Amino acid sequence: ITPENITVGGKTYPSDSYTNVTPTILEKTTRQLHLIPKHPVAIIKDLIASGFPGFKHYDTFSPVVTTKENFDDLCFSNDHPGRAVTDTYYLNEKIMLRTHTSAHQLQVMTESDKILVTADVYRRDEIDASHYPVFHQMEGAQLFDAKTAVDEIRKDIARTTSAASGSIHTTDTTLITPENPKQDCHDEAAMLATADHLKHSLNMMVRKLFSHEKDLQVRWIDAQFPFTSPSWEMEILYQGKWLEVLGCGVIRQDILNNAGKPDKIGWAFGLGLERLALVLFGIPDIRLFWSKDDRFLKQFEPGTIQKFKPFSKYPACIKDISFWSNDQFHENNFCEIVRDVAGDIVEDVHLIDEFTHPKTKKRSMCYRINYRSMDRNVTNDEINVLQEKLRDEVVNRMKVELR
Ligand code: PHE
Repeated sequence: ITPENITVGGKTYPSDSYTNVTPTILEKTTRQLHLIPKHPVAIIKDLIASGFPGFKHYDTFSPVVTTKENFDDLCFSNDHPGRAVTDTYYLNEKIMLRTHTSAHQLQVMTESDKILVTADVYRRDEIDASHYPVFHQMEGAQLFDAKTAVDEIRKDIARTTSAASGSIHTTDTTLITPENPKQDCHDEAAMLATADHLKHSLNMMVRKLFSHEKDLQVRWIDAQFPFTSPSWEMEILYQGKWLEVLGCGVIRQDILNNAGKPDKIGWAFGLGLERLALVLFGIPDIRLFWSKDDRFLKQFEPGTIQKFKPFSKYPACIKDISFWSNDQFHENNFCEIVRDVAGDIVEDVHLIDEFTHPKTKKRSMCYRINYRSMDRNVTNDEINVLQEKLRDEVVNRMKVELR
């Protein structure tokens, strides 16, 4: 039931066997939460951007990009799992919804040495209070002349450190290791200075965002991205759990060469704005960011972080669905159908039972769907209608057999 053509932002693209975008997802491309001044996502965006003076900020790029921009230009291997149709939304084989703001790195690096990019990004995923198929990222990058980087960076760190206030406890146990290597083409001193500048800039950023927090705990851990080396992730301690807030690293020199900047060395980071906003505003469910309810948006003011006052929680309505699965089954495909049928009324989806029949070897799965609206009471009758529709769609689209 895939239409012949897919239209996004007034442009039309031919569909093919890769096409897996749905109307529910395409509707989201028009929302642009990061451009609504009193939306928490935009408030965090503006606060972070104000800590990077002199950076050129791009925030109106279309979410439709080529697989070249999103993957190839960033040194993703041809069999990288991020390319899978179960993880990524495709308009067709060559055109997709960006999965990260890094998709614009090459283009913006040809234009400037200090860059920020903020945008909506799209990933097929499970359903719960912290996952949504659309979220917002901010990308940052800074390039230095490779020959003078060490000196330039030392001065810049000294200048910006004296301006900082507040305390932050960071642990950085990461060293340059064989698993997280320096690029052969890089001078060691220039690379280490670049890494120092990166971590310094990001420590300053969180210190500013969490200035009300007396005792902010931050840690750096090793990571891997196809487009940086070495690479790290920053985590912050929130309610007893380490929360990943960003990925970063020293930019692969191939990318700088392709951007026409072979004499530069640089760092890049990409951070999730919802993750930070959930923590900073105390927002309990990621669906709230998409709410059109005044009781949500009216609570916020540009330039300030204030704790969200939850409106009363409405009762949940729980329904199970069981079926005999097949080899093509993927949980993300199932969740996509749930979102298409029921949208933001679904709070979470969990596999509660799974077994293989000893004789027929058929796999049985039972999913529990927790329906709950963020802004009103739902009736059992209305949820029954949705659940019936879901049962039909699951059979039609996944060719499974209901039990
Ligand atoms: N694009 C990466 C992600 O979405 C984050 C990242 C950006 C990592 C820039 C390194 C450098 O997870």
